[in-house]
Amino acid sequence: MPALDLPRLIAHRGLSARAPENTLAAVRAAHAAGIIWVELDVQLLGDGTPVIWHDRDVSRCSDGRGRLAAMDLAAARRLDTGAWFAPAFVGERMATLDAMLVLIAELGMGVNLELKVNRGHDPVALAEAAVPTLMEALPYERRLVSSFDERALRVSRALAGPERLALGALFDRVPRDWQSRTEALQAVSVHANWKPLKAERARAIKAAGHALVCYTANDPAAFGPRWDWGVDAVISDDPTRFR
Ligand code: G3P
Ligand code: MG
Repeated sequence: MPALDLPRLIAHRGLSARAPENTLAAVRAAHAAGIIWVELDVQLLGDGTPVIWHDRDVSRCSDGRGRLAAMDLAAARRLDTGAWFAPAFVGERMATLDAMLVLIAELGMGVNLELKVNRGHDPVALAEAAVPTLMEALPYERRLVSSFDERALRVSRALAGPERLALGALFDRVPRDWQSRTEALQAVSVHANWKPLKAERARAIKAAGHALVCYTANDPAAFGPRWDWGVDAVISDDPTRFR
């Protein structure tokens, strides 16, 4: 099995401190800042197109309103997804997974693609749409699929097999049964909210041979001691602060 090329710093939703989250602009901004991996959320539009988007609806990060799952691609692409962030980003459009992966491949970057299963959405359809596309676009070393939804991960695992796709078990507070759940998925990494994570749990994850990824840390001083627990990578809105 090839090794995952996981760097220590990953830009959360792209470089979301400096560009509108989950857009092509946010990935270009990460690359320009020397951050070579991004974490991005993927979901399906109502017509089944996978797009890079976090929320269940479009109001927070666009000039429109309504549920993502009620839109087709034409409607989604009419939204301005940059103006809400800053005038410099007016005209930015919602990225399809396809377009995003073309950019990431062109820039030689890696991606932690989070299968975002919002309330009422179908994890199977999402994994079936996103995983083959991801596997075609990037080599093993530069792709990692995570999700809070274990059904989405199980389908991803069934589609790809452990030698062909690295999976990350994503938790808020890492649960007591993290090990059996992570191993059932044959996941290479455990992704944990950094705030409730305790040293003992972090060390157990490392001792079991998993990569440990912490999200979403934006204060290097507060995060500091956790590096000594064996944390492999930090997902941050502005990872440049961690240099
Ligand atoms: O993948 C880590 C992190 O992105 C999970 O939370 O809500 O920012 O997608 P959220
Ligand atoms: Mg995410």
